[in-house]
Formats: sequence, C-alpha cells, structure tokens
Amino acid sequence: MTSRDIDTLTSWLDDARAAVFFGGAGVSTASGIPDFRSAAGLYASQGPGGRAPEYLLSHDCLMDQPAEFFAFHRANLVHPDAQPNPAHTGLAELEARGRLVAVVTQNIDGLHQKAGSRVVHELHGSVERNHCLGRGRHRFTLAQIPEEPVVPSCPQCGAMIRPDVVLYGEALDEGVVAASVAAVQHADVLLVGGTSLNVYPAAGLLHYYRGGRLAVVNLSETPMDHQADLVIHAPIDEVLAQVCRRLFG
Ligand code: OAD
Repeated sequence: MTSRDIDTLTSWLDDARAAVFFGGAGVSTASGIPDFRSAAGLYASQGPGGRAPEYLLSHDCLMDQPAEFFAFHRANLVHPDAQPNPAHTGLAELEARGRLVAVVTQNIDGLHQKAGSRVVHELHGSVERNHCLGRGRHRFTLAQIPEEPVVPSCPQCGAMIRPDVVLYGEALDEGVVAASVAAVQHADVLLVGGTSLNVYPAAGLLHYYRGGRLAVVNLSETPMDHQADLVIHAPIDEVLAQVCRRLFG
C-alpha cells in the first residue's frame, strides 16, 4: 500500500456524493471473526463428522439435521462478543459525515450496525434476527434465543426458530438485492473490500456499477482487480483508518 494509493482513495471519497462500500468477511477478520476462503478460513477445514462446511450451512442440513446445523452455526457464525474494528467504524464515520451513502455486505455479523452505520444492505441476512417456522413467524433477537436446547423452538408455537441468514440452497431476499443494485447503480465511487468475490449472485452486483472510480482493497487478488481503477492489497481496516485520519483528522 503506497501513500499515493491512500491519497487517491481519500480524494475520491472526499469528492463523493454517493459512494458505496461493498464488502465481505475480510472486513470482520480484525474483529476476530475468521473469513471463509483464506488459509485460516472456515472452509479450510472439514466440519464435524467430515462434512463440508458448505453442507453444514445449507438449507438441507437445517431441515434434515438441525442439531448438526445449529451446533456448527453457533460455534462458527455467532460471535456475540465481537466488536467493530476500524473498517466498520471508518465506514460509519464516512456515512455520518456525508461521504458514503450505503454499505452492501455479505456479512451476517451485524458489526456495521454496531459501529453506527445506518444504511446497511445485508445480502446474506444477519444472525441478529431470527424467526420461527410456525404460521405466526414469531421474531426473536439473538439474545432472546437460549443456548439450550441446541435446536431452538418457539415459546409461543413450538416450531423451530431459525436465523434470518441465507443458507446454501436458498435465494437472496429480493428487496435487499433491489436496494443493493440501486445503490451500486447510482454510486459515483464504489469501494470493494475484504471479499474474494467468489460467491454469486452477490459478487455479480458489482457489474451494475457505471462509474469510473472502482477501488478494490483486499489482502489477496480478486477477479475484479483487472477492472478496478485502484487496487490496494492491504488490510481494509488499516486503509480505512488512514483514509479517515486524512479526511477528518
Ligand atoms: P471470503 O473468505 O471468500 O473472502 C474474504 C477475503 O477477504 C479474502 O480474499 C481475504 O484475502 C480477504 N481478507 C481477509 N482479511 C482481510 C483484511 N483485514 N483486509 C482486507 N482483506 C482481507 O469471504 P467473502 O467474500 O465474504 O456466504 O465470502 C462470501 C460468502 O461466502 C460469505 O458471505 C458466505 C460464504 O459462503 C454464505 O454463507 C451465504
């Protein structure tokens, strides 16, 4: 990461009227939440019983083997003690000071909201929200779900409670996709950070961007690097901390 790269990104965000951030698991690694596809990521090892993590995070697993699903989900995707890092707080500050209009995230950890971001489009849902599968579709926060029994059930109707996260084999929420597409389409600066851009349809949303200021900040190479106007291979938390220091002191 060169000082010139930071200068460029800083001046783009300073001029921006509708900047959008599009991010993934790399945004939360500095908060102690592992990503999926790095060497230390969740997909680097097999799940319990030799099952693929992708299966343990699937709709089929939730329905056929709910105890296995919830054990894996709680152990690996629920991080109630994680705190926002400078990537989350930097984005919240950029929004508060009128430099950023939306965060589009594939993360389900709720850390953008915890940092103070207001417009957050959660493409893959959130572990913070849960609902039962009964007719009443009763809603629960994460804190309202007891740790036992392993498969939570609704105190009102007895049906299983599931997290509002998009599992393998499930479709993205149409309203969230539409809002994300609109944000990306109208963005003047699109900052992409902490995502391998391997997962569709989420990664496909970047193709709606029509501006000329696409920045990719990621530790490793991404498939969008060759189309980006600025590529920085460095931690997104450090980059955003530096940008905010230059912009706001
Ligand atoms: P990945 O694990 O695929 O990619 C995370 C990327 O972040 C990697 O390319 C890392 O090099 C990079 N990275 C890690 N720490 C970083 C840091 N501090 N700064 C910058 N870059 C960093 O995660 P996602 O792209 O988010 O979906 O994965 C997308 C989806 O795949 C997830 O939402 C999840 C998963 O299957 C579902 O569960 C539906």
